[in-house]
Amino acid sequence: PSHYDKDLESILIPHGVIMDRVEKLARLIVNDCKGPLVICCILKGGHQYFADLVNVIKKLTTKDGHSIPLSLEFIRVKSYHNDASSGDVRISLTEEECQEFKGKNILIVEDIIDTGSTMVKLLKRLEQYQPSSIRVTSLLIKKTPKSNGYIPDYVGFAIPDAFVVGYALDYNEYFRDLDHICVISEHGKQAYAQ
Ligand code: PRP
Ligand code: MN
Ligand code: MG
Repeated sequence: PSHYDKDLESILIPHGVIMDRVEKLARLIVNDCKGPLVICCILKGGHQYFADLVNVIKKLTTKDGHSIPLSLEFIRVKSYHNDASSGDVRISLTEEECQEFKGKNILIVEDIIDTGSTMVKLLKRLEQYQPSSIRVTSLLIKKTPKSNGYIPDYVGFAIPDAFVVGYALDYNEYFRDLDHICVISEHGKQAYAQ
């Protein structure tokens, strides 16, 4: 029960299931990781997955014998208005911040790959700064005919072609404060349309 009850169609992925999956993804990522890692959060949607993932990675890299120094970076990327991408992907990165990527192993942490255009544009931009490697993890990937075919290295869940919110995913900035990943209802879309 929450202030969003009428605005949601269903719970797609309960919070506990997300947390179990995050733990497994963290193990896969750490096992593949050889040197210092720059973990890069894609704001705003990626912030909750990033926070939970980094928490597990931190534990694994101090207790399980993998000694991996971590640094954390944050990039603001936005293209959505209502339930559709504007096609105009805005990336907030200063030249100074970009210099941090040179020669580093980067892990990008994203909430969802929908059409894939955000990630393809972001990767093109980051590759200009000559990192030594870039890997991408996305908690969700949507099965949609609008996909450009991009598939990240580490995926949490493949989901059906519906607009999902919660666990930091939004609809016009609302619903980020839900713990579960849910499908928005028609009522919800109308209530928060812009
Ligand atoms: C959303 C989501 C991903 C991207 C995925 O971000 O968080 O970053 O869109 O869509 P795509 O694969 O079709 O490009 P949004 O633009 O809503 O900004 P936000 O993270 O601040 O919510
Ligand atoms: Mn986003
Ligand atoms: Mg959004």
